[in-house]
Amino acid sequence: MAFLRGAVLALVLLICLNRSVRGKVELTMNDNLEVYLFDSAEIPCRYSFTGLDKEPSFVMIQWFVRAAGNGSRMRIFYSDASQQIVDNNTDYSGRIEVTSDQRGTTLLVRNVQLSDEKEFFCQVNGLAAGYAERKTHLRVFAPPEAPVIEGIPSGISVTNTMPSKVASCEARNGFPKPNITWYRNDEPLIPAAGQVNMIILVTREYRGFYSVQSTLEYKLAKEDKDSRFSCEVSFSVPGAVRTMASHSINVTVHYPTTMVELWKELPQGLVKEGDTVELRCQGDGNPPPPFIFSKEQEPDVELESGGDVLVLPSVSRKDSGVYQCRPLDSAGQAEVKGEVQLTVHYLDPAVVVPKDSEVMLKGENLVASCNALSSLKTVTVWYKDGKQVGHGNTLHLDDATYETSGEYICEVTVPSLPSLHTSGSVHIIVQGGPQVVGVEEEVQLEEVAGRTVNLSCEARGHPPPSISWNIVGSQNWQEVMSKANDHMTHSMVSIKVNSDVTAVCNASNDMGTEVKVFSIKAIPRVTRTAPFSPVEGSGVIIVVIILCLLLLAFLGSILYFLHKKGKIPCGRSGKQEITKEKPTKDDIVVEMKNNPKNEDAVLLKAVNGEKKGPNDQ
Ligand SMILES: *[C@@H]1O[C@H](CO)[C@@H](O)[C@H](O)[C@H]1NC(C)=O
Ligand SMILES: *[C@@H]1O[C@H](CO)[C@@H](O)[C@H](O)[C@H]1NC(C)=O
Ligand SMILES: *[C@@H]1O[C@H](CO)[C@@H](O)[C@H](O)[C@H]1NC(C)=O
Ligand SMILES: *[C@@H]1O[C@H](CO)[C@@H](O)[C@H](O)[C@H]1NC(C)=O
Ligand SMILES: *[C@@H]1O[C@H](CO)[C@@H](O)[C@H](O)[C@H]1NC(C)=O
Ligand SMILES: *[C@@H]1O[C@H](CO)[C@@H](O)[C@H](O)[C@H]1NC(C)=O
Repeated sequence: MAFLRGAVLALVLLICLNRSVRGKVELTMNDNLEVYLFDSAEIPCRYSFTGLDKEPSFVMIQWFVRAAGNGSRMRIFYSDASQQIVDNNTDYSGRIEVTSDQRGTTLLVRNVQLSDEKEFFCQVNGLAAGYAERKTHLRVFAPPEAPVIEGIPSGISVTNTMPSKVASCEARNGFPKPNITWYRNDEPLIPAAGQVNMIILVTREYRGFYSVQSTLEYKLAKEDKDSRFSCEVSFSVPGAVRTMASHSINVTVHYPTTMVELWKELPQGLVKEGDTVELRCQGDGNPPPPFIFSKEQEPDVELESGGDVLVLPSVSRKDSGVYQCRPLDSAGQAEVKGEVQLTVHYLDPAVVVPKDSEVMLKGENLVASCNALSSLKTVTVWYKDGKQVGHGNTLHLDDATYETSGEYICEVTVPSLPSLHTSGSVHIIVQGGPQVVGVEEEVQLEEVAGRTVNLSCEARGHPPPSISWNIVGSQNWQEVMSKANDHMTHSMVSIKVNSDVTAVCNASNDMGTEVKVFSIKAIPRVTRTAPFSPVEGSGVIIVVIILCLLLLAFLGSILYFLHKKGKIPCGRSGKQEITKEKPTKDDIVVEMKNNPKNEDAVLLKAVNGEKKGPNDQ
């Protein structure tokens, strides 16, 4: 009602007074005012009257609002000298306040809404003093939420002819409509036909906000497997443009295999028979395609593999050759393949000639050989009784003796592949008549009668000789030891010596006979008739010595007497005879011991180191 009455009054005054008075209103307003959502907007409207002597007595001020581009407008405020009215039943009824002074009026809009993005008109009417109207466009800003980027989880193939969807980006609830810009490796992407497309979907939310979604379509290349894509939302705020960036995403790029490599992964180094070999195939395609393995000789025979690994368990030399792998996806490109040469090394068992065992005659020569076939260079070494006796494939056994007999082992090794080795052996038997061990054929011994001697007789020969003893001079003997092996017989007899004994050791086999003769001379036992105490014994000896000394003195005096008389010539010969009495090596030394516990006289006789006395002195 107030609005209608004011409007009618203004219209009447305008018609009646306008022509009669020549006055003018100067009115200034900002074209735009930018505020954040929910802030307060202060819209000033300054005016002054010109061409008048004095201030007009009646000034009417009205505020109108009009949606941009919408013809009809709505009054929200009226004031004149007598009254100030905020129009009822408008969006602004409770939210606006108008303050006025001599210079102008200001409209305050509190709690600005998105719907307040309108034109606000300030109309000043001084009747005869003049009339003017201007407007300010109120612009409301609401920053959107941070942009959300989403990639495509599945891989994208570079073989697609058209740009494919790579990612989408959404910025929600902004005002005015925000923009989305795409970046690839921090370089902005510009739409380009056949290369880059951006599909933008703008949604007006029911509260008036804008949500913008942009979908990037991009023609990927293989290099884009490392590219990072991101989006950025740009939006206006009062007096500025701001941006917010999303995080970066990478894309899974699928590209065909153009190159394949095949290599031996296991074992490291040279391959030998029995090894388990693993060949791995790798291509540059993504995703890695399954591979087909084959051998060059039989390209159509597909070898069973586990994807990219071909396992060859326990290889043999037959598995040597060129192996190939091809990606399953490269149907047309047969040249995309990997190759590797596999060489399986081997060492065959050693073949020794002569085989197993060989009989040689004494003095004969023999050449033994040991050969093991191998794909690599080998080294052969011969051993006998743990000692190295030869080097190389052949072993020369010249002028065989019984020492030549035995087991010969040849060991074949491969220096470049130490785990490859083999060995073989040959048993050499030297055949010949018996050969009794020892320097002399006849041994002279002396032994105290009543004691026991052991005689040892050892004879070599093959077949192993049999030893028989022929003992003359003693019934009391027995063989205490008899040992024989392939090429040696050893016998020992124990003989009680009572009188002189001759013992003949007769070693014989098919090839001949050899004897060894032991001659034992029995020495009578030295005995004492009565035992005596050491003190008595010494006394007797002292008496004997004194008597001897007296006898010597007596003889000496007679000799001196005769010399004085000139009957005996004095020369060197006498002294020489005394020195000659020194016992020679072969004489028997009798030693008397004064120990009553050991009543035996000990006989020492060295027989060329062969036999020692019972006391081992
Ligand atoms: C506006 O409404 C109020 C109460 O609702 C009333 O008192 C006032 O007279 C009304 N003004 C006009 C101009 O209709
Ligand atoms: C103009 O504004 C009025 C009131 O705000 C509204 O009812 C009407 O639909 C608008 N017309 C157009 C064409 O925007
Ligand atoms: C959005 O893009 C349009 C068209 O390119 C441009 O006119 C406008 O200024 C941009 N707005 C922002 C906030 O960047
Ligand atoms: C992106 O890259 C990271 C590390 O560079 C990787 O872990 C992730 O799997 C990649 N994501 C895609 C979709 O390729
Ligand atoms: C002779 O040999 C036997 C048996 O080996 C041994 O018991 C004995 O002591 C030996 N006798 C001598 C005098 O060496
Ligand atoms: C040794 O024994 C062999 C065979 O028993 C016999 O033929 C040979 O005559 C014997 N030789 C001697 C010296 O006893």
